[in-house]
Amino acid sequence: MPVATGGAIRGLTSGGVIATGTRILLSNAWHLMLQPGDERIATLGGLHRLMAWDRPILTDSGGYQVASLENLRKVSETGVHLRSYRDGSPHDLTPERAIEIQRNLGSDIAMVLDECLSLPAPPEEVERAAARSLRWAERSLVPQRAPGQLLFGIVQGGTLADVRRDNARALVSLGPPGEGFDGFGIGGLLMGEAGEDTRRMTALSAEVLGEERPRYLMGAGLPADLIESAGLGMDLFDSVIPTRLARRGIVFTSTGRLNVSRAPYRDDVAPLDEECECLACRDYCRAWLHHLLRAKERIAATLLSAHNLTFYAGLMARLREAIAADCFSDFHEENRHRWRSAGS
Ligand code: GUN
Ligand code: ZN
Repeated sequence: MPVATGGAIRGLTSGGVIATGTRILLSNAWHLMLQPGDERIATLGGLHRLMAWDRPILTDSGGYQVASLENLRKVSETGVHLRSYRDGSPHDLTPERAIEIQRNLGSDIAMVLDECLSLPAPPEEVERAAARSLRWAERSLVPQRAPGQLLFGIVQGGTLADVRRDNARALVSLGPPGEGFDGFGIGGLLMGEAGEDTRRMTALSAEVLGEERPRYLMGAGLPADLIESAGLGMDLFDSVIPTRLARRGIVFTSTGRLNVSRAPYRDDVAPLDEECECLACRDYCRAWLHHLLRAKERIAATLLSAHNLTFYAGLMARLREAIAADCFSDFHEENRHRWRSAGS
């Protein structure tokens, strides 16, 4: 899922995003609640209609902002007291309010409000935040949702195996889909821990959650991480990586990754990727994209974002095909190092 935090992928129209092959977007309840307001969005016809996006939308709850706006928030059992990053105005986000916001937005998949910590954090803190997130998850099952809207619980527990395992078990025990959660986020990872810990915690969460419901590794976005964690049972990912890196000139291609803003590309008349059919690769060479970036032309972000999203949609499609054809291991072996270093 590419990230449209405030209701848009920077530099792209929804039609432009559809042209990349993207099938689902992530947006953020906390940001849309502040601007333009969730009730306003409901009155105006809902997020899909306003965004002109008729494919699925997953909304994150604002739990991640608990970690990322550390100096602007206070957490209690009731919920999170946050200050707006816009004007400093105070807001209370409770588990119930997070569901109400997402009902107003009309997203297809809503996420529970959770308490996500930056790592490393003291074990007592991790345990306390996981326990509280679990109580919030229970409260989140009560309020009414939008028609057909799914709700995912979120596993917390940092890198503490026992805490995370108990947390996942407790979420599953809240009932089968329909009564309990329709899927699960694996949260609190990719927050500064070592890669080995990410893998261990992902695998452990997947095992406890089982295969019946979708499993979503929150915040995962490097190609190698997606392939690796798909191998550990993950079905869904979100990250700003493809679009954020694109704006800086960093693109993924069938041969590796490259930074087209760097000097060697100034006179390179090849497309970004011979095998890509995106807008950028169809019409422009690397030299011109290099120039557009250097000249700070806004179309550079549009073209490079379209390219990276096309790359990611293609990577996910090939990954699904490999799994369906029962040759994931070969796919993993062939591709796991491909995007670590510079391409050509
Ligand atoms: N995005 C990345 N990690 C997390 C998490 O732990 N919780 C939420 N709500 N969003 C996230
Ligand atoms: Zn391309």
